[in-house]
Amino acid sequence: MLFDRFDLQPDDPLLALIGEVRADPRRHRLDLSVGVYRDEKGQTPVMRAVKAAEAQLVAGHASKAYLGPAGDADFCARIANLVLGACTSRHTAGMQSVGGTGALRLAARLLAVNPRPHGAGPATIWLATPTWGNHVPVFEGAGLRIRTFAHTDAKGGALDFSAWLEIVERAEPGDAILLQGCGHNPTGIDFTSAQWATLATRIADKGLFPLVDLAYQGFGLGLEEDATGVRALVERVPETLIAVSCNKTFGLYRDRVGALLMTGTQAAPLAKAMANAKGLARGEYSMPPDHGAAVVRTILESAELTALWTRELDAMRARLVQTRAAIAAHPLAADLGLSELADQKGMFCLLGAGLRVVQRLKDESAIYVAPDGRVNLAGLPLSRVDDFVAKLSSAYRAPQPEMAQ
Ligand SMILES: Cc1ncc(COP(=O)(O)O)c(C=O)c1O
Repeated sequence: MLFDRFDLQPDDPLLALIGEVRADPRRHRLDLSVGVYRDEKGQTPVMRAVKAAEAQLVAGHASKAYLGPAGDADFCARIANLVLGACTSRHTAGMQSVGGTGALRLAARLLAVNPRPHGAGPATIWLATPTWGNHVPVFEGAGLRIRTFAHTDAKGGALDFSAWLEIVERAEPGDAILLQGCGHNPTGIDFTSAQWATLATRIADKGLFPLVDLAYQGFGLGLEEDATGVRALVERVPETLIAVSCNKTFGLYRDRVGALLMTGTQAAPLAKAMANAKGLARGEYSMPPDHGAAVVRTILESAELTALWTRELDAMRARLVQTRAAIAAHPLAADLGLSELADQKGMFCLLGAGLRVVQRLKDESAIYVAPDGRVNLAGLPLSRVDDFVAKLSSAYRAPQPEMAQ
């Protein structure tokens, strides 16, 4: 029996929490686990700009004929503009992908299938950890060899920029390196503009290949500000791949919207890379789904809808900034290692807590954080910040369980 020869696989520990939270009858339960934006009431509403764009699409959609493996070209051009700005000195190309994950996977496949010098072994990607839990499965499954190094110092509260520079020095020319564009998942610890510029120059000098994961543009400092890092990289490094997710920024999670952007100094090699990416997409899933990308395109084509969407995104960011400030200002923040939260960016922070604390938060307080201690700050209403900090403090103070005799 073919099916029976499979080993049973555990559920993804983070996604399994979705079901656990739903089944938890405690009314005060707090879901700070899965990375979706929530408003003060704990809801993830459809954005008003999205609703308006959907209404326009329903009324005016003329055809649902196939678009091809690269998907909606106008959507891609709008996303390239959002990420790279109106004028980049580079040639650019883009294709629609199945979310940011699909873009990362396509990028990784491109790196893996790119012919390497004889005897060079599998293509390598350098990954700063901790990182988003799906990076390793996506890259490994695509056939890349993964090497890791530390994103933060030992306490986890600050960037270890010297580790980044050391790895750029140690890596082999031609190796890929993953950089999160902004709102680092899970730490919230981003590069400064000066660090981006230094890193970009060193990466270019060393001949490394940067793959940027940009899933939270607009959640850090603002739409333009959050793109300064990736733009610095694009201007300094000859070729880049950029995996963009629109699922957080447009609240389109289940519609699976994303794009894979490519930049290069010359048009002809870029065209070859695009042709290969389209071939890979054709073999994997043929073509991406249309609806979500059409929604994003409709918003970005309209000045009015773009303004509405930007205001909604700005409000989401403002709420996150407020939550961060409230936690960092709490009298227990320093003891709990939370004082730096106000300087960090985006939806996430990482508690220095072990599994025991995470488990206690769940069992005793119905507070769900990701198994690695990552907190989705968007899930925390301002009215519950004090409660959260107090519960966290008592979870830390709880006595160790007695060792079995
Ligand atoms: C850092 C990072 N990259 C990429 C993604 C992919 O998002 P999606 O595939 O939903 O667009 C996520 C989602 O959580 C993420 O946190």
